[in-house]
Parts: sequence; C-alpha cells; structure tokens
Amino acid sequence: MSFSFPLRLLSLLFLSLSLSHFKFASAACHVDDESGLLGFKSGITQDPSAMLSSWKPGTECCSWAGVTCLANNRVTSLSLLGQHEKPNSFLAGVISPSLARVKHLDGIYLQNLGNISGTFPDFIFGLPHLKYVYIENNKLSGQLPANIGKLTQLEALSVAGNRFTGPIPSSVSELTQLTQLNLGQNLLTGTVPDNIRQLKNLTYLNLQHNQLSGALPDIFSSFKNLVILRLSYNKFSGTIPSSIASLAPNLQYLELGHNVLTGKIPDFLGKFQALDTLDLSWNRLSGTVPKSFSNLTKIFNLNLSHNSLIDPFPVMNVKGIESLDLSYNQFHLQQIPNWVTSSPIIFSLKLAKCGIKMNLNYWKPAETYFYDYIDLSDNEISGSPVWLLNRTDYLVEFRASRNKLKFNMESLRLVETLKVLDLSRNLVFGKLPKGISGLAELNVSYNNLCGQIPASKFPASAFLGNACLCGSPLPSTSCKCFCGK
Ligand SMILES: *[C@@H]1O[C@H](CO)[C@@H](O)[C@H](O)[C@H]1NC(C)=O
Ligand SMILES: *[C@@H]1O[C@H](CO)[C@@H](O)[C@H](O)[C@H]1NC(C)=O
Ligand SMILES: *[C@@H]1O[C@H](CO)[C@@H](O)[C@H](O)[C@H]1NC(C)=O
Ligand SMILES: *[C@@H]1O[C@H](CO)[C@@H](O)[C@H](O)[C@H]1NC(C)=O
Ligand SMILES: *[C@@H]1O[C@H](CO)[C@@H](O)[C@H](O)[C@H]1NC(C)=O
Ligand SMILES: *[C@@H]1O[C@H](CO)[C@@H](O)[C@H](O)[C@H]1NC(C)=O
Repeated sequence: MSFSFPLRLLSLLFLSLSLSHFKFASAACHVDDESGLLGFKSGITQDPSAMLSSWKPGTECCSWAGVTCLANNRVTSLSLLGQHEKPNSFLAGVISPSLARVKHLDGIYLQNLGNISGTFPDFIFGLPHLKYVYIENNKLSGQLPANIGKLTQLEALSVAGNRFTGPIPSSVSELTQLTQLNLGQNLLTGTVPDNIRQLKNLTYLNLQHNQLSGALPDIFSSFKNLVILRLSYNKFSGTIPSSIASLAPNLQYLELGHNVLTGKIPDFLGKFQALDTLDLSWNRLSGTVPKSFSNLTKIFNLNLSHNSLIDPFPVMNVKGIESLDLSYNQFHLQQIPNWVTSSPIIFSLKLAKCGIKMNLNYWKPAETYFYDYIDLSDNEISGSPVWLLNRTDYLVEFRASRNKLKFNMESLRLVETLKVLDLSRNLVFGKLPKGISGLAELNVSYNNLCGQIPASKFPASAFLGNACLCGSPLPSTSCKCFCGK
C-alpha cells in the first residue's frame, strides 16, 4: 500500500506525457475542424471568462481549451463547462451550425454555459459519429425536432435545463442505443409516448421538472437496466404503474415526487433491494406504507411527505438513513422511530405533523454531528432542544414551531451555519441572543420571551405574541415590561 500512490502518480505522469507527445507528433489541425470551431466561436457574443481565448486561427486546434483530438488528428470532442460558483463563467450567443464541419465529433458537451440560446442544434443530424450530446443548462428553446429519432447512433442525449416546449417527439423511441436520456428542467408538455419502451438499453431516464401529464405509461418492464428514474415535478396522475415492479433488481433512484399520483404505495417496492432513494412526496397517495418496506435495507433517502398516508409505519431495517421526510401525512408516530435515532449518518430529519408526543430531553440519537436540517414542527414535543443544537456543527435549518418546547433562549447555541430558526408557538422564555441577527429567517412569535429585540431585519410577525419582548420592529405600545439597556 505504501508505494501504490507514487506508482499511480508515475503512471499518470507517463500517460499524460505520452498523450501530449502524441499530440505534438501529429500533423496540424484539419482545415475543416479549424474552420468549424472558429465558426462556433464567431457565434459566441460574450465570453467574459475568456473560455475561448486559446482558440486562435493558425494555431493547433487540438490544443484549444475544451477540444480533444484522437489518433487521426481529427477533433472528436468539444467540451465547454461553465462553473456555477463563478458568475463570469458563461457564454452568450448561439451554437453555430458550422460545427457540422467538425465531421468526426463523437461528443458535444456544452454544459452550464447559461446564455447560449437558439433552437435545437439541427446540424447534429449531419454528424455521423456523434454518440454523446450533453447540451445542458443553457437557454435553448422551441420544440424538440419531430425527426429526432434519426440520430440512431446516439448513446446519450441530454438537453436538460433549457426552455424546450411542446411534446416529447414519439420518434425518440428510435434512439435504441441510448443508455441515458435526460430531458429534465424544460417546459415539455403532453404525455410520455408509450413507445419509449423500445429504449431497452436505458440506465438513466430523467424527465423531471417539466409539465408532462396523463397517467404514467405502464411500460417499465422493458427497462431491465434502469438504475435511475426521475419523473418528479410534473403533473402525472393515476396510480404507480405495476410494471415498475420489474425494475426491482437494479433501480437505485425512484423519484416521482410533486405529481398528482393517487392510490396506494405498491407492496412490490419493498423488493427493490438496490434502492438508495425513494421520493414519492407531494402526491395524493393514501393507505398504509407497505410492511415490505422493512426489507429496504439499502435505502438512504426516503421522502413520503405531503401525502395522505396512515398508521402504522413499518419498522425499517436500515443500517443508517441519511435523510427522511414523513411530514404532513396522517401518521401518529408517538416517538422519533428507533431506526432513525440509531442512524450514525443522518443529516436531514423532517417529521412535521407526525403525531410525535415525546420529551426531547430523553431523545438519545446515536449521532447529531452531521445534521443540516431538522423539522419537528406541528407535534407535541416538550423539553428542550438546547443540548441538540449544542451538538451540531453544520445545522442550517431548525424548525420546531407549534410544539411545547420550554427552555431559556439565552442558552441556545446558534452555530455559524444556521440560517433558519423557527420556534414560533412554543413556551420559550428568556431573552433573545444577539446572534439572531445573522439568520436569514427567524420566527419566535407566540412564546414567553422578554427584553429588547436585537437589531435585525425580521418583520414584526416574527416577534408578536410574547410575554414582554420590546423594541423595533414591534410597535412601541407592545412593550409590557421595562426594557433596560
Ligand atoms: C445572461 O444574459 C442576461 C441578459 O443579457 C444577463 O442578465 C445575465 O447576467 C447573463 N448571464 C447568465 C449567466 O445568465
Ligand atoms: C444495447 O444493448 C444491446 C443488447 O444488450 C447491446 O448489444 C448493445 O451494445 C447496447 N448498446 C449500448 C450503447 O450499450
Ligand atoms: C424529498 O426530500 C429530500 C430530502 O429532504 C429532498 O432533497 C427532496 O427535494 C424532496 N423531494 C421533493 C419532491 O420535495
Ligand atoms: C422480506 O423479504 C423476505 C425474503 O425475500 C420475505 O420472505 C419477507 O416476507 C419480506 N418481508 C416483508 C415484510 O415483506
Ligand atoms: C455545550 O457543549 C459544551 C462542550 O461541548 C459544554 O461545555 C456546554 O456546557 C454545552 N452547553 C449546553 C447549554 O449544553
Ligand atoms: C411566524 O409564525 C406565526 C405563527 O406561526 C405566523 O403567523 C407568522 O406569519 C410568522 N412570521 C414569519 C416572519 O415567519
């Protein structure tokens, strides 16, 4: 083990040396590739981070940023990626059809460039070697072409995060070599064409965040290799189709949240041995959660919130859950379940309105360190969260409004990462700590707090209904006590 790292480093060095040697040894950029790429550059009207500054006529185009060539010295891929965290890292303009001259392209990756507009790049129909298209998070618009099925050599197609409208063309079913199809985050309407069942090689299907409607077609029995299925944030109605059962061996992500699905959660979901993430939230599902869920031993993320599910909730056999949201159903859990309390890796716990009646002082979670989000609103929880907030180092949100929490606000530690604190409608007493002014959202209304409100940007409704809080933003007449200092 001790020499594996340097060895790997050496082989990497060797690889990059031989690759660059390869580049320099080969002849100059093919004239068609150079003119095609320069044509692309001339379609770009703004490049504030100088992404294309190395693209100069008469220089070796295989060494231009984002350009890759293979053995025959032809350009085979174009890859330009904007970086979200850098505000200047975008391109504005259109994708020039002159890229059609770069005949040997097998991959086009134009991702997170922000301001690339225009319609679907029809020139890709003239690129016979093209296999991978990722034109994501730009501003392309218009309809997807009806003859998109002619791109039969494609293995991956993503136009996610654009502004495409209209239906999913039914000819998409002819793209039978596709392993990945991502049309997410657009404005697509209509139903899912039944014949996409022909895309038997799909491992990844993402149609989320569109305006698709109708019943989910019962077509999933042909997707033997599907690992990720994302259909959240649409208007799909009807029940969860029974053919989803055939995805049991391989499916890891099943996301159907934010639709209008009805009926029960099917028993067969308990057989999904590989399931990592199940999101059925914000639908109209009813009945109980199947007992078979206790067999979902690999589940890390479970979101069933905002449905009409009823007791009893099955005891899960998980080694550790990372995020759980059961909020706003018709559960009466009484306690925070033991399989949650024992998780060593949990970072998000949302159990709002779950009929929990415990005293928080007696809750003994195995690990609190990783918590980012806690929502225990609308329960009958008494005791104090002071110890809990004192043991989290990354907490971003703590929501516990409408409970019976009783503690001295001055002893509450507000960790630096905390953005949201909602303690409204509890029995909190004492004074407000100065630290609250650093929060993005605060609500301590309807408690027993007293004293001067530290300078902050929050509205009066965040402080109303306390015993003797005073100062801005509350009206001066609301002060029922002597506010010293
Ligand atoms: C895109 O263009 C708009 C309008 O010209 C501009 O406000 C915006 O900052 C640009 N950048 C990105 C990344 O969208
Ligand atoms: C699609 O599946 C077929 C049959 O399993 C296989 O021969 C072919 O190589 C696959 N294509 C891709 C791109 O994975
Ligand atoms: C479900 O919960 C998870 C974790 O809290 C969250 O990331 C996801 O966005 C939620 N899904 C929906 C559809 O709201
Ligand atoms: C869990 O899986 C085992 C083995 O497949 C099965 O016998 C058992 O009935 C399942 N449990 C539930 C509650 O469905
Ligand atoms: C918070 O934790 C520290 C040590 O980690 C401890 O000294 C302190 O007493 C705790 N405060 C409260 C209010 O629990
Ligand atoms: C604070 O909570 C109260 C009661 O729950 C609510 O009426 C009020 O709108 C909230 N204010 C803010 C700023 O969130």
